[in-house]
Amino acid sequence: MDIRDLRINGERLKSTLERMAEIGRTSGGGVHRLALSDEDKQARDLLIKWLQEIELEVAVDEMGNIFGRRAGKKDNLPPVMSGSHIDSQPKGGRFDGILGVMGALEVMRTIQENQIENTRPIMIVDWTNEEGSRFSPAMAGSGVWTGKLERDWAYARKDFHGKKIGEELERIGYKGQALAKRWPVYAYFELHIEQGPILERVGKKIGIPQGIVGIRWYDVFIEGKANQVGPTPMEGRNDALCSAAEMILQVEALPAQMGGNMVATVGEIHNDPNSRNIIPGQVHFTVDIRSWDDPLTDRAEGELQTGFQKIATKRNCPARIEKIWKVEHTPFDEFLVTQVGKIAAQLGYPSYSLVSGAGHDATYMSQVAPTAMIFVPSIGGRSHVEVENTRWEDCEAGGNVLLHCILQSAR
Ligand code: GLV
Ligand code: MN
Ligand code: MN
Repeated sequence: MDIRDLRINGERLKSTLERMAEIGRTSGGGVHRLALSDEDKQARDLLIKWLQEIELEVAVDEMGNIFGRRAGKKDNLPPVMSGSHIDSQPKGGRFDGILGVMGALEVMRTIQENQIENTRPIMIVDWTNEEGSRFSPAMAGSGVWTGKLERDWAYARKDFHGKKIGEELERIGYKGQALAKRWPVYAYFELHIEQGPILERVGKKIGIPQGIVGIRWYDVFIEGKANQVGPTPMEGRNDALCSAAEMILQVEALPAQMGGNMVATVGEIHNDPNSRNIIPGQVHFTVDIRSWDDPLTDRAEGELQTGFQKIATKRNCPARIEKIWKVEHTPFDEFLVTQVGKIAAQLGYPSYSLVSGAGHDATYMSQVAPTAMIFVPSIGGRSHVEVENTRWEDCEAGGNVLLHCILQSAR
């Protein structure tokens, strides 16, 4: 058979994704599979079973990143790697992350059953804690592996209940032996859902991201004065939640004020003591700012600092702003991006060039290896929600593009 005629098994990819979607399934049809939870462990165990079934050499590193390796004819050459993440958002979708891992698995199965001889080794990877929802920051596993984050700092990151990444890795049995330390990679490909509305709008099957926007995360802590709501007059209150409310609206207004293609969001808030008849004494909320334009984001950060301090002074509620994470905007490898486009065209899939507004492990990977991504449309542009959906035929198309990207790089 001409290798150009090779295709993945779309039905098998569908049933694999459906099986995975049972782990952490929610009543609304999504998945709740937070990083290093029992559900994450169950999904990891299943992934490893599937990797072993196709005789891949499996390794787990000290960050819990899972690798499956197929040897190459020239086995000492740097491998071609592909994967994504198994963890999900709270009440998240059935495709974010897992499509990239199951897509790479389907490619490996196709290569194995057709006894394709690859020159370079080929590796599949599941990166730990991509979402950054239970433990911030996002992309912790790939961040440590690529040398961009400190391992011990990552181990000490806590969830809302004070559980640490290091402890939870141990608890679920995924603090592996191998060092989380990068090796040379020839090419890294990540298949992912678009998570936005563009592909659907332009009616194309394959998205070709030119890169990923820069992302900054902040934790904001506001100190007010808790008191009984009834006897305390309105004048002279130090209401931490009202202070937060003003700040949150300032975050929303920031992109319009700055211009450029910026988005800014407050997605998480904790109000203490959170009682209807106590003036809020302490508030913690998060800020997420994204843009392709890093200097613009620098200026936005300055605006925010100044604006928040003004509100804090006016309301006499001191505010502490901690920048906990920053990744610069990331252009992908031009050669690989072009290759994705050519392969999509050869396979007869209409494609469209765009920029990823979502963060991916490909951000860190592209800082250490030639990297590209393949997007498939998200129905209604919805993601990080239970109704997140992608047509099976589009998953299959993305899988076929991934197959040929990997074959061409590894041949
Ligand atoms: C990851 O899912 C992100 O874009 O925040
Ligand atoms: Mn993702
Ligand atoms: Mn996500």
